[in-house]
Amino acid sequence: MNEAELKGIRDWFELYADRYCRENGCRESVRAMMVLKREHSRRVSQEAATLASDLGWNRSDQITSEALGLLHDAGRFSQMAEFGTFRDVESVNHALRGVQVVQESKVLDRCRGGRREQILDGIRLHNGLRVPAGLSAGSVPFLHLIRDADKLDIFEIFLDAFRNNRIHDYPEIAHHVDLEGPVSPELAAEVRAGRIPSYRMIRSLCDWKLLQVSWVFDLHYRPSCRRVGERRVLERLRDSLPDTAEIAGTFEGARAHLEMRCRTG
Ligand SMILES: [Fe+2]
Repeated sequence: MNEAELKGIRDWFELYADRYCRENGCRESVRAMMVLKREHSRRVSQEAATLASDLGWNRSDQITSEALGLLHDAGRFSQMAEFGTFRDVESVNHALRGVQVVQESKVLDRCRGGRREQILDGIRLHNGLRVPAGLSAGSVPFLHLIRDADKLDIFEIFLDAFRNNRIHDYPEIAHHVDLEGPVSPELAAEVRAGRIPSYRMIRSLCDWKLLQVSWVFDLHYRPSCRRVGERRVLERLRDSLPDTAEIAGTFEGARAHLEMRCRTG
């Protein structure tokens, strides 16, 4: 992919997202969610490009990463406009919706050398529980990259919300969990075992935070792990939770895993 193709994708995305962010007929809260997704997409795009550069990928692969970052959540805008929620279980799978939106736009039609497939696979699978077997070899590195870049930005979005008491800005979470409730023992046990708990196990805001802790087990690239360390993500999550032995215990494995990944890749 070259710079001109990236510019075409960027121009398309900005116009597309802007249309939803300016929509007159919608509630202010819905518009705020659109703006949030546009900002998230821009930041993930930059994060993906920087990770690709740190990994020593060639310029064409870096540009493809940047484009994928921008497009990975393309399905969020029409999902919110149509259903008024970002909860996939109550609406549509936003990744599949994103593939549909991007295909219908024809914005990738001029991309050659498998770039179209790599980007569409990245969009389609960025939110899955894991990277499926049997995916085309050219798509796998980009899928790992977008999953890492997405998590890195989501950590910051929620850490900011926890710190500034703005969790109510995220009704998708705030309306569905007990904000004052304790950690669910089954969920904490999953994190201690080095696994990512299912979203279905989340009962409280504490559970949501511990689920975020478990994401370190799913980071693929060493530069991603280093960023989590440099940004003190685990320490900041820890500070946002009650000071109990049970919670402290769930952090130990995650911290050790992250340190090991930062050292050995
Ligand atoms: Fe997403």
